[in-house]
Amino acid sequence: MSAIKKEYKRITTKSVVEMKANGEKIAMLTAYDYTMAKIVDHAGIDIILVGDSASNVMAGHETTLPITLDEMIYHASSVIRAIERCLVVVDLPFGAYQGNSRKALASAIRIMKESGGHSVKLEGGEEIAESISRILSAGIPVMGHLGLTPQSIYKFGTYTVRAKEEDEAKQLKKDALLLEKLGCFALVLEKVPSKLAKEVAESLTIPVIGIGAGDGVDGQVLVTHDMLGMTHEFSPRFLRRYLDLYTEMGGAFKKYIKDVKTKDFPNKEEQY
Ligand code: KIV
Repeated sequence: MSAIKKEYKRITTKSVVEMKANGEKIAMLTAYDYTMAKIVDHAGIDIILVGDSASNVMAGHETTLPITLDEMIYHASSVIRAIERCLVVVDLPFGAYQGNSRKALASAIRIMKESGGHSVKLEGGEEIAESISRILSAGIPVMGHLGLTPQSIYKFGTYTVRAKEEDEAKQLKKDALLLEKLGCFALVLEKVPSKLAKEVAESLTIPVIGIGAGDGVDGQVLVTHDMLGMTHEFSPRFLRRYLDLYTEMGGAFKKYIKDVKTKDFPNKEEQY
């Protein structure tokens, strides 16, 4: 049986809900720039996430907290110029929505207007319900994000697995149901026990896309730079590396440096 149940010319928020109903897994990756987004989209990805992980991956910050709304809009508009088929979800960065639903709507509107993104993602459950409702009321699709929510890293203290204890697991299940009820079209579950993630996915009609949430969910997301092996310092158990680009690229750069130093580059055919 084919893993692809239906061919889509363009992926919309409706398509991903349909994929879940049809039992087709959803593949999502991050991209923050034009060139990477073009490659990822042409490979047939369902969703590109312009994640606030750009704060770590692109800007070298220790956490996702410093990235600004303007910077997210810059990354998202570069991605939008590249894609032809996939759905693009853009993270609302830290400080752009917490505690003020009017501000949340204004931030989401800026993302949609200035980048051309197709939807936004927010971290949190009942504490941001008002912001989610207000954004949805403007016709902007929202993806939720529960479990390990990196914008709250200073509350958690560590990046370890969330919701291992009964109380937190109960709250997470409650939040997931609430997000579906509010009208979110999908939900990211990050770093939670696979049994809990499976239970959540089975209790919802909207797709649950996991990162470190096991095989019982409706789709998977990874940070592209991690799965390509460009980042060496980050090695969680859930990460499958498809390439070792850190080594491959380093080798190419070393060869180029040698060619320049030894005057091998450019040769006669490589000049005018
Ligand atoms: O910003 C990001 O890359 C994310 C994923 C880890 C889900 O939110």
